[in-house]
Amino acid sequence: MEYLLGIDLGTSGTKTVLFDMNGSAVASATVEYPLHQPQNGWAEQDPLDWWEAAKTTIRQVLQKSRANPEDIMGLGISGQMHGLVLLDENGDVLRPAIIWNDGRTSLECAEITQIIGYERLIAITANPALTGFTAGKILWVRKNEPDIYKRAKHILLPKDYVRYKLTGEYFSEMSDASGTNLLDVPKRCWSDEILTLLRIDKNLLPPLIESSDRAGTVTPRAAKDTGLNAGTIVAAGAGDNAAAAVGTGVVKQGKAFITIGTSGVIFAHSDTVQIDPAGRVHTFCAAVPGAYTVMSCSLAAGLSLKWFRDTFCLAECETAGQMGVDPYQLMDEEAKKVQIGANRLLFLPYLMGERSPLLDSNARGAFIGLSAIHTRRDLLRAVMEGVMYSQKQNLDILSGMRVLPDAMLATGGGAKSTLWREMIADVLQMPVKTVANTEGPALGAAILAGVAAGVYEDIPGACEKIIRENEPLTPDKKKGEAYHRVYEIYQSLYPALKDTYRKLIAVT
Ligand code: XUL
Repeated sequence: MEYLLGIDLGTSGTKTVLFDMNGSAVASATVEYPLHQPQNGWAEQDPLDWWEAAKTTIRQVLQKSRANPEDIMGLGISGQMHGLVLLDENGDVLRPAIIWNDGRTSLECAEITQIIGYERLIAITANPALTGFTAGKILWVRKNEPDIYKRAKHILLPKDYVRYKLTGEYFSEMSDASGTNLLDVPKRCWSDEILTLLRIDKNLLPPLIESSDRAGTVTPRAAKDTGLNAGTIVAAGAGDNAAAAVGTGVVKQGKAFITIGTSGVIFAHSDTVQIDPAGRVHTFCAAVPGAYTVMSCSLAAGLSLKWFRDTFCLAECETAGQMGVDPYQLMDEEAKKVQIGANRLLFLPYLMGERSPLLDSNARGAFIGLSAIHTRRDLLRAVMEGVMYSQKQNLDILSGMRVLPDAMLATGGGAKSTLWREMIADVLQMPVKTVANTEGPALGAAILAGVAAGVYEDIPGACEKIIRENEPLTPDKKKGEAYHRVYEIYQSLYPALKDTYRKLIAVT
């Protein structure tokens, strides 16, 4: 029997899954690691924790499956984007990685915008300078930790570091490099213009290949560490969302997925490069060579519901524990009892500031219309609706860029809830599908490995063989109209509050 291995380097942990050649999961293992927050708004992780987690999960998967390592045709890796890993000349880690949700670089982002020029930056990198992205982090280390910066000989993204540990080779690939603010996204190469203007030595950056290209093979040393066979083919892999797209078959024009995880992502495939001049949504290279994606990222989608659960739903959590069910399932039942509009209550899901579509780190959450008549149930319903309205705003931007999909694939934690799925269909007025295999990013990474190893001819062909879509849920027009009336009010709230948020953030 032959296999493919997919590693997904996430923020809370690394999950490794062994797949058979039909894309069915044979064994999987997850190891968690900490997120360090040395200051309010900072977020760091230790790259060695990622490597330890990769080694342990590979070993566990091999043990559980009893697969012969010789039968693993290739491995691929997907990972959290944007993080900065700095290595010295020996490939040793110089400082903790500054990761995607770290917000320390507003000054550096302003500097980048001023040096390059807003329009030029968007024309080259397809995105504005964002605190989550890598370039600002490089400038921050250069300014604040010059000794470390001087010793840095390699700049890598998170999954590229783990791949380096497996193969001994430095590479990055287009989908992840798109989130650095240093890539010429339309031309798919590092931008000499930006590197020169920002005074970043190009030699620090790894060579670029495409996601399904071969990035090397497992070294004898990594083979000893992991139990894999030395010489196993390793694909370049992809950023987490680009890999999830492959793992759900979103690899053709007209296809898109929505994820309600910690963040909310709408991700649409595009055969041509489409850029939002206002930078409200990201344009990245796709894992499919030569193709692009338009992607919105709202920072507190599932996070808003998790916040509500942890703050107000202790009773549900206890009952769920006793019943052996997921607390979200009980919360779903509660929210279903409330009508659309949550009894004239609205929620703004900006608990972490907001990326798409506001690009405003000052924004914060709000309940609007709160009355003594409201119960916890109404608040819960309003939170879920608010998250969906923010997704609708992002979909409206995508539709203005002519990348409106025909249907939406629901993935991530939110896809498990019938209420979320119904809301996606009714608020977005679009058929909602799910896929039979729910391993999204890990499966995407494994498919990329299959292409790199020559098992599959190309990515779309592999997806056609492997990905099975379930019957779509069709949108309800009447419910859609009811949601739309509330959505129109929702849209007017942020502009009315923008100035208040700015003043609030200045209060000491
Ligand atoms: C994408 C983004 C996140 C991270 C972590 O721009 O910031 O999706 O990749 O998952």
